[in-house]
Amino acid sequence: MASYDLVVIGTGPGGYVCAVRAAQLGMKVAVVEKNPTLGGTCLNVGCMPSKALLHASEMFEEAAHSFAKMGVSVSAPKLDLPSMMNFKQQGIDGNVKGVDFLMKKNKIDVLKGAGKILGAGKVEVSANGSTQTVETKNIVIATGSDIARLKGIEIDEKRIVSSTGALSLEKVPERLLIIGAGVIGLELGSVWKRLGAEVMVVEFLDRILPGMDGEIAKQFQRILEKQGFAFKLGTKVTAVDTSGKTLLAKVEPAAGGASETIEADVVLVAIGRVPFTDGLGLKEAGVALDNRGRVQIDPHFATTVKGIYAIGDVVAGPMLAHKAEDEGVAVAEIIAGQAGHVNYDVIPGVVYTTPEVSSVGKTEEELKQAGIAYTVGKFPFTANGRSKVNQTTEGFVKILADAKTDRVLGVHIIGREAGEMIHEAAVLMEFGGSAEDLARTCHAHPTRSEAIKEAALAVGKRAIHM
Ligand code: FAD
Ligand code: NAI
Repeated sequence: MASYDLVVIGTGPGGYVCAVRAAQLGMKVAVVEKNPTLGGTCLNVGCMPSKALLHASEMFEEAAHSFAKMGVSVSAPKLDLPSMMNFKQQGIDGNVKGVDFLMKKNKIDVLKGAGKILGAGKVEVSANGSTQTVETKNIVIATGSDIARLKGIEIDEKRIVSSTGALSLEKVPERLLIIGAGVIGLELGSVWKRLGAEVMVVEFLDRILPGMDGEIAKQFQRILEKQGFAFKLGTKVTAVDTSGKTLLAKVEPAAGGASETIEADVVLVAIGRVPFTDGLGLKEAGVALDNRGRVQIDPHFATTVKGIYAIGDVVAGPMLAHKAEDEGVAVAEIIAGQAGHVNYDVIPGVVYTTPEVSSVGKTEEELKQAGIAYTVGKFPFTANGRSKVNQTTEGFVKILADAKTDRVLGVHIIGREAGEMIHEAAVLMEFGGSAEDLARTCHAHPTRSEAIKEAALAVGKRAIHM
């Protein structure tokens, strides 16, 4: 029987990164993966394919609407959807191959098949009717998450799709109805909107992007509406009639009341994701779940069974690839006897639309609720030189700092490249920096990042360009 120091179940960003870090630390490591390819949700049906389509559809949109005003004259772009899907697939393949390479480079055994925990120290791997059992000193559960479903609305991945189907539609739907104004709804809604679909988003709550700063979300909604998105907030879809050529969605106010019917060609269900633990044998092994079906862990990622740990989407916290990766590194270091740690106060979040939305740390709502006195510094991209010359002036930077100490508690950006810009704020916050520190840091000119410096100056009411 093969024996290892560590067996990681699942090769998403949590699992494969954990395996690499453990191998770096001298452990003999195997990963178990039930999918034909490594990389998990993120590489195969999540982050990567969605970003490829966001990029390609943005280029399509730019060619149609932005080139002419810069004096670049081209004929109206034509959509070749199969080629765009091929571009997406090439991106997936390249990244998946990269993970294969990392496994080989770090001498990590890849065990293809579904993993089941037989108890501390034993994992069974089944594929095509055959099984093998391996021994291991430690197990990390990194089995990720699956789409959340709506009762009574069956996803066929053709007309009623999850994000997976929405990444592979064979033609642009005339009318796309999206259930859920979260990250997936707004990113994939943007893709199909740019490619020509009429997009309506039905959201249960009275706002979009719950969890993001409210002021940013409001402005973002206005921008998306200007792009042609239609929103029905405080509303829920209760059923979808699939009997005819057109889908008929029954919607009603979230609090109940008169219903109406919305016609659509495709319905995207994007109401969140749920932890995935099917077939892992957790109950029999004595690994406890919390009340939301997530693997229960202590602050050191240890489950209720000694020698079994869990990370990523399958445990509590934001369902983000970089959160899973950082937990993967931390748990490998803890298993190796080091002091692995993740700072959950500084995990950036990005919505990769145009403009992008990014955020790190506390929102204004969270600070109010916690009773923390804060000062706000804001700076609009309309006053940023680089944005002006590029004529991409939508959005603003907002910095929240502790009113007493000036320590930066949260940074929120809406604007082009916001996802790249957020990291200087993250570094500052990791070091417990103040708005003053940020304001006194020289920023290259002309860059969009100067808006961050100006927002930091605005915390002290001394922005220069406003
Ligand atoms: P996963 O990536 O879900 O990987 C789990 C792996 O475990 C899978 O490969 C699965 O097959 C395998 N597995 C499960 N059970 C078993 C078993 N019993 N035996 C063997 N293998 C098993 N996050 C971001 O940070 N940025 C983004 O831009 C982003 N975009 C997204 C877009 C979409 C459309 C979706 C759906 C998600 C997106 N996410 C994004 C979220 C991100 O994909 C997840 O947070 C991330 O993949 C979680 O990593 P993980 O390692 O915990 O699990
Ligand atoms: P989400 O949690 O971001 O949004 C789901 C939305 O659906 C919420 O606004 C919620 O209020 C709404 N909702 C729930 N039930 C509803 C109902 N019955 N009717 C109408 N609305 C309803 O989840 P989403 O967008 O599905 O994404 C899943 C996960 O994937 C997220 O946790 C996110 O972190 C991750 N992800 C991250 C991305 C990124 O980092 N750029 C991109 C895509 C996904």
